[in-house]
Parts: sequence; structure tokens; C-alpha cells
Amino acid sequence: MNGSMSMGTMVSFLMYLFQIMSPIAIVAQFFTTLSKAAGSTERVREVLAEPEEQLLSGANHVSLADKTLRLEHVDFSYETGKAILTDLNIEAKPNTVVAFAGPSGGGKSTIFSLIERFYEPTAGQLTIGGQNIDELSLYDWRSQIGFVSQDSSIMAGTIRQNLTYGLDEQTFSDNALWHVLSLAYADKFVAEMPDGLDTEVGERGIKVSGGQRQRLAIARAFLRNPKILMLDEATASLDSESEAMVQKALADLMKDRTTLTIAHRLSTIVDADNIYFIDHGQVSGNGTHQQLMDTLPLYRDYVKIQFKA
Ligand SMILES: Nc1ncnc2c1ncn2[C@@H]1O[C@H](COP(=O)(O)OP(=O)(O)O)[C@@H](O)[C@H]1O
Ligand SMILES: [Mg+2]
Repeated sequence: MNGSMSMGTMVSFLMYLFQIMSPIAIVAQFFTTLSKAAGSTERVREVLAEPEEQLLSGANHVSLADKTLRLEHVDFSYETGKAILTDLNIEAKPNTVVAFAGPSGGGKSTIFSLIERFYEPTAGQLTIGGQNIDELSLYDWRSQIGFVSQDSSIMAGTIRQNLTYGLDEQTFSDNALWHVLSLAYADKFVAEMPDGLDTEVGERGIKVSGGQRQRLAIARAFLRNPKILMLDEATASLDSESEAMVQKALADLMKDRTTLTIAHRLSTIVDADNIYFIDHGQVSGNGTHQQLMDTLPLYRDYVKIQFKA
């Protein structure tokens, strides 16, 4: 109005203004998206930064057959620093069944993680036939251990890939795979699937039920023919019909190898050769079911509460 700007300058000023508004909005949105992406990839970056396990260093091929597995004065704590296991002494003689029982949170699964060498003990050592297991190559160690957990993981891919992962897929014929499936009572449902062994199980195995997933995990363990078998409440999340089948499959799988089992069923514990009662990260006592019932009041109470029926 006071003439300090000509009409032409003002028109071009306004046109530039409108032109620049949408790019500024886009830049602002870009920063929002950027910070969202940075947040959601944080975990991915953490995982990528993890040092890789040295699978092959250490003595190659030491057979675990007919050797005693021992945990000697083992202490352990996670990164949080709180002591989880203290002065643990456990012995698993070859070709016997050793059961672990005790209240949840006592440290049973942690013991399995140590044996799998997912973690290293803070003090003490694990030995097999007198040799420290640190000296064996991870690859060799794990290839001789079978692990069936409570909630066995299945990956997107085919049944065949899920059975053979970590192994060389080519070395197993269809017949060999069907054989282990039948040992695990899993052949029927796989045969009924549209593409048999090559059926895609979907993300996290959504196309197979919990009981079927457990039986696939057992078939996987059969295929590896492990010297040491570890079962962590392998049937806890199943309905009673699949539980009966999985139980049968497990009983077959346990023959002729050392079996460590974390049991939630009384029958599994009663049949074990030796039971360790784990409470607050310590072994409160060990022996057969009858021995523990007679000598360990903690165990007696535990059995009474856990297995009322
Ligand atoms: N990855 C982990 N990081 C930190 N603490 C853990 C981890 N896993 C288990 N714990 C803790 O270790 C203790 C023992 O757990 P766990 O071995 O799973 O017991 P159980 O199998 O006997 O129920 C619990 O107090 C649990 O909170
Ligand atoms: Mg557990």
C-alpha cells in the first residue's frame, strides 16, 4: 500500500511462496518417516552388530557317545548381573535319563542354554568325558545334541527345509525324511498336505498346529540322531491327544542316548534314572523319585502341589 514493492515483485513473491510450501511439508514428513525407521531398525542393527559365533574353532570331531556329561561348580548370571545359578554340580551318565524338576524360574532352562553353549558359565566348567566342552568346536558339539523345546520354532519354508536346516539338504533322500517323520508320528499329516515334503508351512509355521510342530521338531531330532537329547517341557503346550502321540515319539527317541529332560509330567520324572531338584539356581537334592520323596521335603511338597491328580 505504501508502494515499497512493485506489483510485479509482489506477484512473483507470492508465486514463489506457494511453490515452496509443499516441498517444505514434504521435508517435514521425511524427517518423521526417518525417525520412525531409525526406531524400528534399532533391534535389527543391534543383531547385526553381534559378534558371530566361532563355529569351527576347537577340536574337530570328538564323539560324545558313551561319555559322561558333568557340570562342575557352575555359577552363572545373565547380563543383568543377578546370580541365576550357584555352585551347580550335575552329572549325566551315558545312555541314562536325567530329569530336572523344580519351581519355575529356578534355572532349569538356563542349565540347558549353558549345555547348548548359548552362554558360558561365569565360573566352573562343563565337561564331557573329562574334557572341557569349550575345547570342542561349536559346530561339532551342537551337531551331536538334539533339542526339543516347549515351543519349537518353525521357519517360513517347506517341511523339508525345516527338517534339514543346518544340515546339507542334498544328503537326505525323501525316504530318509519320511522315515524320521514316521518315527515322530508326523508322516500322516505331512502326507495329507498338498505338496507333501515341499509344502510351505507359512510364516512361523502358521499352517501347522502346535502338536504337529512339536512332532516336526522331534522328527528333526531323529534326523540328527543326537548323542545327547535335551527336552525342555516338550509336551507342555499340547492338548492331550497330541501329547499322547508326542510322548510316544519321545519315548522312542530317548532310547540309546543320554537324555536330559525338564519335565512337567510326573510320569516322565518317575521313570528317570536320576532326578535333580533345582530351586533358586541350586541343586537341592538328587536321586530317584522314591529317594527324593523319602529324603527331600521340598520335593515332596513340589510333587504334591504340581501333580495333585
Ligand atoms: N535371557 C535372560 N536374561 C536375563 N534373565 C533371564 C534370562 N532368561 C532367564 N532369566 C532369568 O533366569 C531365571 C531362571 O530362568 P529359567 O532358567 O527360565 O527357569 P526355569 O526354566 O527353571 O523356569 C529367572 O529368574 C529368569 O527371570
Ligand atoms: Mg523353563
